[in-house]
Amino acid sequence: MTGAPDASARTRWYGRRRGKRLRKGRQELFETLLPSLRLALPAEPGFGIDPCALFGPAVPRDVWLEIGFGAGEHLAAQASRHRDVGIVGCEAFISGIAGLLVRIRDDGLGNVRIFEDDARLLLARLPDASLGRIFLLFPDPWPKRRHAARRFVQWETLDVVARVLRPGGEFRIATDDAPYAAWILERLTGHTRFRWTARRPCDWRQPPADWQPTRYEEKARRAGREPVYLSFERRAAEPNGT
Ligand SMILES: C[S@@+](CC[C@H](N)C(=O)[O-])C[C@H]1O[C@@H](n2cnc3c(N)ncnc32)[C@H](O)[C@@H]1O
Repeated sequence: MTGAPDASARTRWYGRRRGKRLRKGRQELFETLLPSLRLALPAEPGFGIDPCALFGPAVPRDVWLEIGFGAGEHLAAQASRHRDVGIVGCEAFISGIAGLLVRIRDDGLGNVRIFEDDARLLLARLPDASLGRIFLLFPDPWPKRRHAARRFVQWETLDVVARVLRPGGEFRIATDDAPYAAWILERLTGHTRFRWTARRPCDWRQPPADWQPTRYEEKARRAGREPVYLSFERRAAEPNGT
């Protein structure tokens, strides 16, 4: 596959990569388990990847992506419930990756692959309409005005998300940050390729039926911040039919 644009020149990672030193058992999982799950981008900048081919001989019925999986509790729960779906997780925070590796080992999950870097680098290499669902749960809100360009949700990122999502596919976002929620809604409802699926005013306060609470979400609730849950469908065509 060729033609994938090189996003590396335009992306810069602002989050943490390292936290506390890992316990020995977790460190060992980086050496014994991660190598077989690691998703590496082709060295040639123009080459893309086929997500279905990542999962070995058993071709998954669909491939989903979680961006910034944190400690991996949501990703692991989805992977456990949907063993016929391949799930790719993107996260660069080492302790978070270790947390997911523990869950993969304990739950015997064979349908997870890990990209240990900025999701935008991977998105740029994926073929059109290759994913059925994308999760972006509690993305860093970057509350200061001068840091707003660091937010994951940007017009140009949404163009890429729309390109890689299948028509009818879901882009699910949760946040506990009210200004970021408004920012997300402005961009997603203003984007011709997405349709907000909420039906009733209270919908965005209710977690979806298949929800698995995340660590960050629980922290937000303990601090008195109520999350919102937003689901957007990738439109098959522009609203005017084009
Ligand atoms: C606020 S935490 C939320 C973690 C988790 N989703 C949860 O709900 O507990 C945001 C996470 O996204 C990761 N992250 C931020 N930008 C990212 C990007 N461009 N690609 C992949 N991960 C990213 C950070 O490392 C961090 O772990």
